[in-house]
Amino acid sequence: MNSQDKSHEVLSSEKQPVLKSTPIMPVAADKLKKAEQDSLIDDIKKLRQKCQAIILAHNYQIPEIQDIADFVGDSLGLAQQAAKTEAKTIVFCGVHFMAETAAVLCPDKRVLIPDLEAGCSLAASINADQLRTWKKEHPGAIVVSYVNTSVEVKAESDYCCTSGNAVKIVQAIPTDKEILFLPDVFLGSWIKKVTGRKNMEIWMGECHVHAAMRPEMVTEKLKQYPQAELLIHPECGCLTPFLDQLADNPALKPIKVTSTEGMVKEASKSKATQFVVATEEGILHRMRKENPDKTFIPIAPEMTCQFMKMITLEKLHKSLRDDVYPVIIEKELADKARRPIERMVSIF
Ligand code: 13P
Ligand code: SF4
Repeated sequence: MNSQDKSHEVLSSEKQPVLKSTPIMPVAADKLKKAEQDSLIDDIKKLRQKCQAIILAHNYQIPEIQDIADFVGDSLGLAQQAAKTEAKTIVFCGVHFMAETAAVLCPDKRVLIPDLEAGCSLAASINADQLRTWKKEHPGAIVVSYVNTSVEVKAESDYCCTSGNAVKIVQAIPTDKEILFLPDVFLGSWIKKVTGRKNMEIWMGECHVHAAMRPEMVTEKLKQYPQAELLIHPECGCLTPFLDQLADNPALKPIKVTSTEGMVKEASKSKATQFVVATEEGILHRMRKENPDKTFIPIAPEMTCQFMKMITLEKLHKSLRDDVYPVIIEKELADKARRPIERMVSIF
């Protein structure tokens, strides 16, 4: 069974039963739920203060988690916040590789993740042994790893990057050096196109959520919303063919290919009032909250990362209350992984 199937299994056991008939007292039940949630939120706030903790949340987290977090952002922003916080404990509401990155950057802090099962299909698409073999086949090549990788893979890398700074990092590497880029094939192909880099090998990994996006989904939505600006994450499977279509038909829309944070920023600063959003649906919460007068249309509302949705208020509460689950990385491994991560955090 692959990690994707596993996440479905975990999620389905947590799913609330769907009511087929009219509930007897829906209003009272809703009030109770709201009261329980409010009390949970109060407790989380008290525990956060008591533990001198900071709560970091990725842009794909459920709205309740985003709303209680001290900082919400993309992989790069979260790593930067972790690096500079003075809090004693970092509770990382995101997926495991993100919490690992924080733990490497902050060896003196306690890093907690509310659910250890919150993995990433993209990070799982390469391991350190596979990377070592690939490096042997390309002696002297520079390894650029996307941040969506395990700490063991990072430790074998020269640079880490996020979708927010991948182009700049590749451009910073001398052109006579061969580059091994991993693990996302769509992000890698896009960087190759944007930078015009010739000697760049790309690992064939993908994220199951973004790989499912097809170019027809984009063109269909743009037909429906002819005034909309398109915001697209570079992990999307639709990206390369869509950009080719765009080259053949320049009358198509203004399009911005960027990280989740880049999308949120563009939504605020653009003059457009409608946006088609091609990434995981969790990002819509922040976009709508920060831009109440604008309209955000998901490319497909079912584009959901089950791993990101594993973190709930209940698990965040337990994490702070019971000091679970610590993300501990062996010193030697953390020391090796720190250099490529620090390069990532400093180039933006
Ligand atoms: P960002 O770094 O753009 O937030 O993306 C992380 C991620 O996991 C996208 O799927
Ligand atoms: Fe990983 Fe994809 Fe989920 Fe991002 S959306 S965390 S790349 S599985």
